[in-house]
Amino acid sequence: PEIARLIQALPKAELHLHIEGSFEPELMFAIAKRNRITLSYDSVEALKEAYQFNNLQEFLDLYYQGMNVLQTRQDYYDLTRAYLDKVHSQNVRHVEIFWDPQGHLERGIDFATQIDGILQALKEARAQHGISYRLIMSFLRHLPEESAFETLELAKPYLDEIYGVGLDSSEMGHPPEKFQGVFAACRDLGLRITAHAGEEGPADYVWQALDLLQVDRVDHGNRSLEDDTLIERLKESQMVLTVCPLSNLKLQVVKDLNDHPIPAMLQAGLKATINSDDPAYFGGYMNENLMQLQQAVGLSADDIITLTRNSIEGSWAEEARKKELL
Ligand code: ADE
Ligand code: ZN
Repeated sequence: PEIARLIQALPKAELHLHIEGSFEPELMFAIAKRNRITLSYDSVEALKEAYQFNNLQEFLDLYYQGMNVLQTRQDYYDLTRAYLDKVHSQNVRHVEIFWDPQGHLERGIDFATQIDGILQALKEARAQHGISYRLIMSFLRHLPEESAFETLELAKPYLDEIYGVGLDSSEMGHPPEKFQGVFAACRDLGLRITAHAGEEGPADYVWQALDLLQVDRVDHGNRSLEDDTLIERLKESQMVLTVCPLSNLKLQVVKDLNDHPIPAMLQAGLKATINSDDPAYFGGYMNENLMQLQQAVGLSADDIITLTRNSIEGSWAEEARKKELL
């Protein structure tokens, strides 16, 4: 249909993507085999059947298990390259990719091994597919702030290659205020700031991300809609929200895609964008997120254009690059 053609044809940017969450079961099994690692599932099918989650934590438990098979620079390269080839086929032209260095450091994988493999794939895809990128280092909020500080120290030789920092993992009980110090240090280093907030956590966590971390954008932000004063603040500042419809459905942030808050966000004048979060776990990349959301809530062609423009305008790409893509 026409709307599917529009979604495919529009130049798009993805702003909320965990590279470890793009780890498809087929590639996971292939890498496990060459690293002589035994997975807790004996087939791709058995693993895929396990992808049923009641909440964020149930997903995270599998996500951290899955990334355990990544060991060599080649593994990080293959993972990243597979994602970039996939979204290239969907006409995604700019990507801002999160990775979770602490999830690999705690297993003894060097910072350099991780980032070198990821960057090699990003640079090749820029040369071969014309995809521009920003790399975002994300801190795990279930760990102490001290661990984030240690990770920031390891990142210092790579600050030319790391554009921003984020905050992810288990939200409840780990409010942004826990990380005020390390984000202040990141800002002093000239890094852009984002944080997951209001996915499962309350609107108060979004306030904290804005006022205490001084984020440049908010990842998810769904529960902002529970607070009218917050809606006004987000609207007035045109704060970008990186919303992830299929993630919200699979993690039961929404009961049904029909109940998704994107129409309410657009109605309220918020700068919402559509993203895939962890596409291998949630059943869809950028275009599937747009298409399934469109089908569920009845977005117009103009809504789709607004959402994809918001991503480009709200990205951290250079201004000249944004102009090219708009
Ligand atoms: N890590 C990977 N995906 C995440 C999500 N949706 N929320 C929090 N942490 C994550
Ligand atoms: Zn996320």
